[in-house]
Amino acid sequence: MKRMVPDPSLIHAIEAAAQADPSNVALQIHLAQLLVAAERNLDALKVLEDVLRATPDNIEALGLAATTADALGDPRAEGWSHLYRSLGGDQTPAPNAGAAAPSAREVTPEGASDDRVAADDGGDSNTDTDWDGLLRDVLRDAGQHAPVTLADVGGLREVKERLQQSFLAPLNNPELRRAYGARLRGGLLLWGPPGCGKTFLARAIAGEMGAEFLSVGLHQVLDMWLGNSEKQLHEIFEFARRNTPCVLFFDEVDAIGHSRMSLSRGAMRNVVAQLLSELDGVEESNEGIFVIGATNQPWDVDPALRRPGRFDRTMLVLPPDTEARAAILAYHLRGRPTTDLNFELLARASEGMSGADLQLVCEEATESALAAAIRTATMQPITTQQVTDAIRTTKPSTTAWFDSARNHVRYANDGGDYDELATYLKQRRSR
Ligand SMILES: Nc1ncnc2c1ncn2[C@@H]1O[C@H](COP(=O)(O)OP(=O)(O)O)[C@@H](O)[C@H]1O
Ligand SMILES: [Mg+2]
Repeated sequence: MKRMVPDPSLIHAIEAAAQADPSNVALQIHLAQLLVAAERNLDALKVLEDVLRATPDNIEALGLAATTADALGDPRAEGWSHLYRSLGGDQTPAPNAGAAAPSAREVTPEGASDDRVAADDGGDSNTDTDWDGLLRDVLRDAGQHAPVTLADVGGLREVKERLQQSFLAPLNNPELRRAYGARLRGGLLLWGPPGCGKTFLARAIAGEMGAEFLSVGLHQVLDMWLGNSEKQLHEIFEFARRNTPCVLFFDEVDAIGHSRMSLSRGAMRNVVAQLLSELDGVEESNEGIFVIGATNQPWDVDPALRRPGRFDRTMLVLPPDTEARAAILAYHLRGRPTTDLNFELLARASEGMSGADLQLVCEEATESALAAAIRTATMQPITTQQVTDAIRTTKPSTTAWFDSARNHVRYANDGGDYDELATYLKQRRSR
């Protein structure tokens, strides 16, 4: 079976993703494969050179580099081919393969379709498998593979309780799940200031469910797949449907509510329509897909997305209270050498900070202790003083968000959507 010539927009998308994440070797190799399939051997070789510079014994990259270099008449083909075979590469790559099948590829790049098959290192003739791997690389939460659970999320006690009751408890009971199947299809929208744990919470829900966490940045979909977003959204949902149970996480769901310069309004409407039809799952079943959206700007979310069966349940994720801040600090310092830290004091001193701010504080305190350890060449545990100093030099990052949120509450709370936030703002002011 011949490989499909990949869509240029797909290559463009993967190029952007690969550039954003240069350490993702699997993604770089996928990109190289796509470039080869698109008869862009020179570009493919450039990608492979980078991969081999970082991981010289990557067998997949070696095999592909050998065939690609051979097709280009690049003298390095032989060395790569040799290394590939000596590392146990099972298929004989070019130049030997090239000798057995002399082709027109040197003459006309358009005639390189045989080349594509030769360059396929695994003998894998099923194109779907490749698309799957590729989507997986894009959707998987890069660099954050350790599963987290709700216990790792500091504070947010009420949110966690509501999640347990309305989401996880019925899920963990297969009979109830069947009985309430229809009701479980709705999605959840997490909203609130940045850095307070929306993404972290979504990952924890996946962790609790033992489900795969697939993360889609809607800005990413819109930018990377410019003009092709609908098709890619469909592919993303299809991928999720093949990989249930999973949490399909849409970050920045406000992105498609904006009128953006890069897309005409008509094109944007098509994207919204596509997302809605995928969410509604009329033709396809979304059983086992738990759609969670997140936004810092709920006022920009397209109202159509909030209708029943879509992102209809909403939860406000607020900055951690005193108790929660202590828990978050403890979480981010776990496993590190510390003195007997005064968490009560630290929690009080870090009023107004988000979970992300607190994580930063922990990193900084750790750096100070490490520097002291290096200076003295002895183990120096992290002290309360070091954490306090880090708190003093870190600015709470949610201030700007609250300033703008206040206006929305004041002028756009007719439907009562922001009542919970309004209450919180009042408490905040009176402190
Ligand atoms: N409630 C929390 N408990 C523990 N860590 C948190 C919490 N909130 C935020 N963090 C830390 O801050 C980081 C950023 O939070 P994130 O979930 O990305 O915020 P958001 O998605 O709301 O902008 C997380 O990866 C986590 O390390
Ligand atoms: Mg986030």
